[in-house]
Amino acid sequence: MFTQQQQKAPEEVRESSVIGKPTPRIDGPLKTTGSAMYSSDHNFPGLVYAWPTTATIASGTVQQIDTAAAQKMPGVLAVYTHENLDKLYRVPPASGFSMIIDEHRPALEDNVVRYWGQYVAVAVAETLEQARAAAEAVKVTYAKTPHNTAEALLAAPNREAPKKPQPEDPKTAKPAEGKAKQVTKRGDTGAALQAAAVKHDAVYSTPPETHNPIELHASVAVYDNGRFTLYETSQAVMNHRDVMAATLGVPPDRVQVITRYLGSGFGGKLWPWPHAGLAAACARSLNRPVKLVVSRSMMFESVGHRPPIDQRIQLAADSSGKLTAIQHDYANHTSIEDDYDEGCGEATGLLYSCPNVLATSSLVRRNVGTPTSMRGPGAVPGLFALESAMDELAIKLKMDPIKLRQMNEPEVDETDGKPFSSRHLQECLSVGAEKFGWAKRNPVVGSMKNSSGQTLGWGVAACTWGAMKMDAEVTVEIRSDGTARVATGSQDVGTGTYTVLAQLVAHETGVPVDKVEVVLGDSSLPAGPISGGSWATASLVPAALNAAKNATKSVLNIATQTDGSPFKGRKQEELECADGIIRVKGQPSPSLSASQALSLARVRAVNANAKSQGLFGDSNSKFSFHSYGAQFAEVTWEPEIARLRVSRIVTVIDAGRMINPRAARNQIEGAVVMGVGMAMLEATEYDQRFGAPINNNLADYIVAVHADCPAIDVTFLDHPDFNLNEVGARGVGEIGLAGVAPAITNAVYHATGFRARKLPVRIEDLI
Ligand code: MOS
Repeated sequence: MFTQQQQKAPEEVRESSVIGKPTPRIDGPLKTTGSAMYSSDHNFPGLVYAWPTTATIASGTVQQIDTAAAQKMPGVLAVYTHENLDKLYRVPPASGFSMIIDEHRPALEDNVVRYWGQYVAVAVAETLEQARAAAEAVKVTYAKTPHNTAEALLAAPNREAPKKPQPEDPKTAKPAEGKAKQVTKRGDTGAALQAAAVKHDAVYSTPPETHNPIELHASVAVYDNGRFTLYETSQAVMNHRDVMAATLGVPPDRVQVITRYLGSGFGGKLWPWPHAGLAAACARSLNRPVKLVVSRSMMFESVGHRPPIDQRIQLAADSSGKLTAIQHDYANHTSIEDDYDEGCGEATGLLYSCPNVLATSSLVRRNVGTPTSMRGPGAVPGLFALESAMDELAIKLKMDPIKLRQMNEPEVDETDGKPFSSRHLQECLSVGAEKFGWAKRNPVVGSMKNSSGQTLGWGVAACTWGAMKMDAEVTVEIRSDGTARVATGSQDVGTGTYTVLAQLVAHETGVPVDKVEVVLGDSSLPAGPISGGSWATASLVPAALNAAKNATKSVLNIATQTDGSPFKGRKQEELECADGIIRVKGQPSPSLSASQALSLARVRAVNANAKSQGLFGDSNSKFSFHSYGAQFAEVTWEPEIARLRVSRIVTVIDAGRMINPRAARNQIEGAVVMGVGMAMLEATEYDQRFGAPINNNLADYIVAVHADCPAIDVTFLDHPDFNLNEVGARGVGEIGLAGVAPAITNAVYHATGFRARKLPVRIEDLI
């Protein structure tokens, strides 16, 4: 009864042998053979290395900085501090998707230190080892002031409402009013909570998490006569160009940003970080190409992290399980200068039907590097709280947790009254329950065993993630040799954007996928979307299809004008091109291939562009665009040896049509593994005495590895979302992580009776 009708495909969408076909990544061989050029792989004649000196206090000022010894060391070209680095500027306020930066202070702006690991100097030398030795030989005298890196947040006395939009200069910004920003509100939660038959009230805490893509952040900066070519680890080359131009004080046409391949980013590489300005400034000052690779330990300090968050959830329901109130108050830490608002309440108002809802967000300033987006920012930790609370409420109601979610399915997005474009959450839950075997679940804690005698825990959580599309421009070339080219200023984080673009162009032009050259990761191309928010694919669909259509029209036009063409003298509109073959519409013959038409005319290639407009959920659309999913988790618990493992995850995802189900499945599998890490392993630990992240390496910051991987069963519901684009595709980067952690901790409760309201679950919590 809840499932919407399947949307009808727009007329112009043909059956496709390419879209929806599991397709190996076209960049796979380049990566597996080591020939893909990652940013730090770029080398140039005369290239030198930069290594930063980082602050060893978390708050205070640099009183003295002695670089004399470092400058005399072998191979050293220069050592820069706040006293002698070329001026770097702050960027103007963000507008749209330009000028976005989370840490606004450029490197070495002044002598103030606000977090451990902040850059205080940079040494440049002929070799990496010489640069590092020199950076470590810089003697810094600090005047320390008290720092605070504590994680207690909702209880902190100095909570603030996030200021939005970002002020031009945080130093002169007006103080925010009140302690919290209202994120969504309807009805009267206070009254409903008081009157409720059944109530639940608890605080859920998630720790700071550090992005640990295998590829380190890096900048290779080449300066040539007023022009910068910057090889960057960027999930957004267009924004990176704009930010770097502003930082360096030059027009954007003097800066080119290149990111051919990324060894992932998880959001940590969305916006530029201070090292990028540092590398470019050094290159300009020395007139030498400069390579700066951020070390793994520095990546725990100055390239963002998911902040710790406290979330208080209050739920009220009548005795039948109908929700009557949801109040969601949360606080995350941010840095001293910048407002980073995790946005945990994004899904709170729309996941369930409820007349009284209030979500509020607040910040607490800490001596930490500026936090940033990490896969599923907001919703992922937000749903840990909400979906844990729903499980706890179901237990109080003595109700199956799936039934509770069914009972509270909304008809429309109750935050704004808009219809859902395509929502199949209940189908996700029912398909998942069937695949998982949920009907066999005995809800009594600790009551289920597997055949090896291990105690089983079974848990479930629902999830959602917003779907959007950004403005995009794509250029497509069709060539006489039977190949094609597609290019746009977007990039591939490693998720499959190269392949999806090849599929879209192959679908439209008939040129086979392996004959389509895809060019990405260069800010001199027409502006493409960021690789973030799970928006890249949905954004590229309309522009890529239309550019391919326009290029095809040029071919048809040529076919009407060329001697020897069977279509000479016809009108272009009379012709069609399907699978690369030109014919008169509706007539099987004569026919001519697109490449033959170009060859006959002695034209090598035709090029066409297309631009498409973004659609940003709330403001300019008629629908509420979201993806949905259901996560089912099984854990095994062996109290005798205190071993807890995630043994099985069944995930059902409603994210529109999958253009490449193979790459999409890969995304969901990776996200599930990340969810195991979030639930069981990951936490950045600050040593409160120094304000330093101390588990700043891959041995001590524990991420899920193969041995931690459960059996993963991924199902995609195939409900194309044609309101979003012509092929009905949404994105799949983040939805796979949403809901995984609470499904696991709900399963942990079912196995052990321990309710994990603070992540990660530790063995010591269970014994
Ligand atoms: Mo994602 S956190 O938008 O890279």
